[in-house]
Amino acid sequence: VEGSELVSHRPKSAPRLPLSGRGLTVKAVREDHTIRVGDTGGDPDFVKGSLDAHSELVVPLRVRGEAVGVINLESTRGYAFTHDDQRLAETLALHVSGTLERIRLAEEKQLTQERMLREEAAAEQARMLATVKTRFLSTATHEIRTPLTSIMGYTELIQGALEAEDTSKLQVYFDAVQRNAERLTRLTDDLLDTQRIEEGRMKMSKTPTTTRELLVDLAREATPRLIHRRQTLEVSDGFGGVVDADRDRLIQVLANLVGNASKFSPEGSAIQLLVEERGGEVLFSVRDEGVGIPPEDLPKLFKPFPGIHVEGNREGTGLGLNICKGIVELHGGRIWAESGGLGKGSTFSFTIPEAQP
Ligand SMILES: Nc1ncnc2c1ncn2[C@@H]1O[C@H](COP(=O)(O)OP(=O)(O)O)[C@@H](O)[C@H]1O
Ligand SMILES: [Mg+2]
Repeated sequence: VEGSELVSHRPKSAPRLPLSGRGLTVKAVREDHTIRVGDTGGDPDFVKGSLDAHSELVVPLRVRGEAVGVINLESTRGYAFTHDDQRLAETLALHVSGTLERIRLAEEKQLTQERMLREEAAAEQARMLATVKTRFLSTATHEIRTPLTSIMGYTELIQGALEAEDTSKLQVYFDAVQRNAERLTRLTDDLLDTQRIEEGRMKMSKTPTTTRELLVDLAREATPRLIHRRQTLEVSDGFGGVVDADRDRLIQVLANLVGNASKFSPEGSAIQLLVEERGGEVLFSVRDEGVGIPPEDLPKLFKPFPGIHVEGNREGTGLGLNICKGIVELHGGRIWAESGGLGKGSTFSFTIPEAQP
């Protein structure tokens, strides 16, 4: 019985009979008792099948009081099945039913076990996610708290200086307030981007853009800091074609990579930016001669707040590379880092697909 039909397992005929229809087999299921007919010609419920049956014996198979099928015996002879045959078939049906019941129980047990395993895995995943979220929130709160505390400290100093009519340090105090307010702005901007990516709310508006245009915009963005650190940016565009990109977001990625390269490299050093074509993709790589990254830190880089301590990294939010990863992946690309280790410089690379012509 499958749903509201009786399905024959004789491979050749394999008909599907509606349980509500005519026929001795479905009648046996419906009425849930054995049917033995000696002369089918005289039986109003008989429906001729593939065999020219003159007598028929139908015994229902029951699992937990419910008909799940039948054993159907047909003969071209009239009155072929005796009372003993019926008893034999009924005994056989009992055995088959018992086996079916055991199979069903085993299947149910396995399904229950699989469901429990799945539920356990899901619960574990949810617990881990909750822990990550809580940790993220407490780090973010702490990161916001620090500049806020500074700002409050300096405004008190300003207040005191004004009361004492001593203006000698006012400029220093105001600069400190401004520096910390800028840090807060960077931090909240990055937190918003991180949340947007996390929740799938960051929208990309992609337009065909040449890599040349991207590099010009990047240079404009990165130059002040490079001049400040007397560093050079050597750009080589071996691709020179068109990519389908959200221009502002891709420049955000490049600016962050070049910004990091500048920040984590000595004054006066050189940074290289290479653009090349590779198997239908455009590969950008930013190489520096800076502090490098120990192998154990490489897997942490693209997570929020990786907690890698580098001397003098005061302006960082620890969210930049995580945002880069999100933006690159929204373009259908990948991002990764390589480094020879501490003091050996680093290379950050990412790909995006070439624009379709
Ligand atoms: N070019 C680089 N050289 C060495 N370390 C780097 C470089 N770029 C990134 N890092 C490491 O990865 C961390 C995460 O980078 P990022 O997400 O941009 O955060 P931030 O720049 O705000 O510190 C940095 O704090 C630093 O430890
Ligand atoms: Mg950064």
